Amino acid sequence: MKAIVISRLGGPEVLEVREAPDPLPEPGQELVRVEAGGVNFADVLTVQGGYPGTPPPPLVAGREFAGVRERDGQRVMGYAQWAAFAERIATRPELLWPVPPGWSAEEGAAFPVNYFTAYFAYWKAGLLGDPARRKGEPPRVLIHAVAGGVGTAAVQIGKLLGAEMYGTSSSDDKLARVQELGLQHGINYKQRDYEDAIKGLTHGEGVDAVFEMLGGEHVGKSVRCLRDFGRVIVYGAATGQRAELDTRMLYAKGASVHGLWLTYLSAKRELMDEAWKQLSAWTSQGHLHPVVGHVLPMTQATAAYRLLLERRNFGKVVLRLTGP
Ligand SMILES: NC(=O)c1ccc[n+]([C@@H]2O[C@H](COP(=O)([O-])OP(=O)(O)OC[C@H]3O[C@@H](n4cnc5c(N)ncnc54)[C@H](OP(=O)(O)O)[C@@H]3O)[C@@H](O)[C@H]2O)c1
Repeated sequence: MKAIVISRLGGPEVLEVREAPDPLPEPGQELVRVEAGGVNFADVLTVQGGYPGTPPPPLVAGREFAGVRERDGQRVMGYAQWAAFAERIATRPELLWPVPPGWSAEEGAAFPVNYFTAYFAYWKAGLLGDPARRKGEPPRVLIHAVAGGVGTAAVQIGKLLGAEMYGTSSSDDKLARVQELGLQHGINYKQRDYEDAIKGLTHGEGVDAVFEMLGGEHVGKSVRCLRDFGRVIVYGAATGQRAELDTRMLYAKGASVHGLWLTYLSAKRELMDEAWKQLSAWTSQGHLHPVVGHVLPMTQATAAYRLLLERRNFGKVVLRLTGP
């Protein structure tokens, strides 16, 4: 079969479309004929050798996909740690979910990582639950990289939860597009400091939660954007820099920092099932719809990865792996 192979560690240019051995399912695994694969920032890090738990090259790339389960012809979308960018994958059945009716393979491939991660970010922030039952004003959430894959999913979920959302991006054009999805306050961090912007927009009070995936100085800055008892959910380090945080900053306002890693949570069956119950209900009510910004053929995997690395993507980047 054809597959996108990480031949050696490096930049996106090391990706090659090659013949690879057909996957051999282990007992209990399912075989899926893959039609499309969702590209994640984690894939970019994996090629660079910066993703924990990944075997050394040569390795078939890709961690999420949509296609057809060979056993029964069911259209499925799935999550794996690698080997998804190939014509076939052998994978764990509990991490396969039915593609919602009417969705394309590209939309299915854009769902699992973004929506489970965004869901768990609200869960970690303590913001899930019926908005009508929560007292007081809407919760305020600052979402970094709001125009990206996880960011756009977080905006769709935040809208359902009645959140007041603030989001950062490098581009006015991207921010205008996310505002159409329901983001109320776009902050272009190339033009103004987001900490100052949050102060101004919230009358000096701050937000209840920050979804933080930049690392470096942004962890401390995000804590400074919180109001009393606020939470920063850390789930990435796109800058490649180690988090800078003086924990004394947390004392003053009873704030906290929580970690979130889907790789780890995906092994917790009950949590994943609970999340899917809510996500699939919202999806069948028509509230969630993956924002697919770019679809490229598998031969253009290098270009697809570069879109994320160079901040040129809007929403999800998807690779087409087999016909039609
Ligand atoms: N912990 C987990 O389980 C988990 C799961 C999924 C994703 N993540 C993390 O969440 C983040 C978003 O992932 P994604 O796949 O949805 O990617 P994405 O947000 O679609 O793409 C990355 C975006 O980050 C922004 N960005 C800001 N600083 C950047 C930098 N120094 N280098 C590159 N991009 C930068 C860019 O948007 P602007 O130009 O608009 O700023 C870029 O488009 C990543 O850090 C990823 O590792 C973590």
